[in-house]
Amino acid sequence: MDTPPHTPSHSAKKSVSSITTGFEGSMPRFVPETSWALSIQPEDFTEENFLGSGRSSNVYKVVLHNVTSSPFSLTPPTSPVKSSFGKSASPVRAVKVPVDKASRKILRDEARIHSQLAHRPEYMQHVVGFFGLDESLDAIVMEACEMSLESFINKDLGTLSRDMRIGTVAASYKLLASQLITGLQFVHSNGVIHGDIKPGNILLRAEESAGNVAFPFKAVYCDFSSAKVRNADWKRESEDGGGTWDYMAPRLLTYKGSNEGPDEDSDGYALMMTVLYYVLGGSPYRQAQNGFQRREWAKQGAPIVYAMDDMELENRFKDLEEKVGDGVKRWFEQRLKGNWRELKT
Ligand SMILES: Nc1ncnc2c1ncn2[C@@H]1O[C@H](COP(=O)(O)OP(=O)(O)O)[C@@H](O)[C@H]1O
Ligand SMILES: [Mg+2]
Repeated sequence: MDTPPHTPSHSAKKSVSSITTGFEGSMPRFVPETSWALSIQPEDFTEENFLGSGRSSNVYKVVLHNVTSSPFSLTPPTSPVKSSFGKSASPVRAVKVPVDKASRKILRDEARIHSQLAHRPEYMQHVVGFFGLDESLDAIVMEACEMSLESFINKDLGTLSRDMRIGTVAASYKLLASQLITGLQFVHSNGVIHGDIKPGNILLRAEESAGNVAFPFKAVYCDFSSAKVRNADWKRESEDGGGTWDYMAPRLLTYKGSNEGPDEDSDGYALMMTVLYYVLGGSPYRQAQNGFQRREWAKQGAPIVYAMDDMELENRFKDLEEKVGDGVKRWFEQRLKGNWRELKT
């Protein structure tokens, strides 16, 4: 669930913030667009504008006023974000603001990863649109999405009647899986391991053409704050993935395995756990007595077994099997076993 916003930890500054993604080396260099740099003010980071939060940030919706020129002057040759948004005079952005000093560095690193992915033209189909880093705040400026997958599961699906819920889930879980699989393959093919895939780190962009009636969205990845670039040193401190073990591949929960860090397959496992959470509407490990037990359960890598021990979740799973035919269990089991790339039904 979304938590209420913390008071922004930085002092409200009147000074003009500057947006840049001028990273060194091979990173693409985006030209800062001063007219919207002027528009981002800490005064906008209010409860009313609050979109969500996580371990390292609060995210706010900000309307950029007084934008005189095209709002999309992030003009590297590819300009990936340009085509998806019209030229509106007051574009809306999501601004991810660090909660403390340590998070500032995390967000700068995250912006670097976005920047690395953003030079690929297909980027916009799989990852939340990235507009740059506001260097005075170390805030990431993004496309504002409709909501996170987590809030869709909890607030939208969670309030439907049993029949409506199961109809929606049955009509959409494979579509969601395929959007996420294609997206993850894009991320991996650019040398990036996400490292913290879970419903709160997936955003839903309202896009009917990509979805269907039950799920009129395109699911895109956000929160690259635990990501690693292949061959670069993996930072051990980012292992805990925001404090939930549920999505972590069993290997990462053993001491030896965690030293080696996340890889493509642990991302794939987390992806399938995310889809499983989507169909169940809850964690298969939610009945654990404490964090220790929860971690031990997750380590076994048998989420379906635990879901079947939870009456409500078991019933939801049975409803789904009734609706789409059995084989749902096998569908998940095979993919959780390492076959996560399998798009076929
Ligand atoms: N671009 C966005 N559009 C809409 N909501 C967002 C956006 N980015 C983040 N959020 C919301 O803020 C939450 C925290 O963002 P996230 O990037 O996961 O931060 P953290 O690194 O602190 O976990 C997300 O779970 C989501 O609810
Ligand atoms: Mg997050």
